[in-house]
Amino acid sequence: MPLKHLLKLADLSTEEILSILDTADQLKSDKKKGIAHPILKGKTLGMIFRKSSTRTRVSFEVGMYDLGGAALFLSSQDLQIGRGEPVQDTARVLSRYLDGIMIRTFDQEEVEALAECGSIPVINGLTDYCHPCQVLADLMTIREFKGSLPGKKLCYIGDGNNMANSLIVGGIKTGMKVAVACPPDYEPDQELMQWASANGDFLCTPDVAQAAEGADVLYTDVWASMGQEGEAEERKKIFKSYQINDAVLAKAADDAMVLHCLPAHREEEITAKVFEAHAKEIFEEAENRLHAQKAVLVKLMADQSL
Ligand code: CP
Ligand code: NVA
Repeated sequence: MPLKHLLKLADLSTEEILSILDTADQLKSDKKKGIAHPILKGKTLGMIFRKSSTRTRVSFEVGMYDLGGAALFLSSQDLQIGRGEPVQDTARVLSRYLDGIMIRTFDQEEVEALAECGSIPVINGLTDYCHPCQVLADLMTIREFKGSLPGKKLCYIGDGNNMANSLIVGGIKTGMKVAVACPPDYEPDQELMQWASANGDFLCTPDVAQAAEGADVLYTDVWASMGQEGEAEERKKIFKSYQINDAVLAKAADDAMVLHCLPAHREEEITAKVFEAHAKEIFEEAENRLHAQKAVLVKLMADQSL
């Protein structure tokens, strides 16, 4: 069955994830060679944002432009949805104008409702629960730097948030070993962790050194996500030792790469020294948002394959 939406990575098979990564690689290589693929000519993507964004907004907008289509930035502050118009009605109205919707919001349920009530593809551009677009770009970047995914160890250090949830699913589905280090009470989604333990090599521990041992990829994210600004000071205390620094890097494989979805808070979840030493892979990762999302747009919205 062709892919209808990208709501969360758990909905995708391993083959579907790998096929998106292959298409992303091709789109990246073709863009560098100046080969265009205007296969979304005449199509429009609406981008609903209830939270801020640099990468997601710009990469989707440029991605649609690259593919011959157009993108509309729709801030929830200006839409009626921000004044309480039900998502079910928004979905049915937007389905009559647009060919696809990307949404960044708080509740995963809102994304699922948009998909259920509308008749066009819906892409999750981040919820409190997950960030599938980011992890597709992350997997693409790991493949680029490490050659392949199966058997490689991915270690996530920090808050068991949307990034942790999606990295666990993406890592396990592509055959990686996944270890997460989180403080007690800040672990990733319990159901997802149970699924990961049953389906692959998965560890969740409060011990950063144990999680980082022999890792091929070290990954971190902010201690306070969007919507948690009020907890930022308290979280600084709780997460103090959940930082990627030289000592953690020394536990990982000699050629370990470091990734960060960005924005980064230097000297909080990552030291400035480690961040700058690994800027090459971190900014390649940011670039890959564009290529990976173009692949998603092609899979969901094009009438033909590349
Ligand atoms: N990583 C990421 O999603 O960045 P933005 O919040 O800038 O979109
Ligand atoms: N966990 C972060 C990710 C930002 C891309 C947040 O939700 O704010």
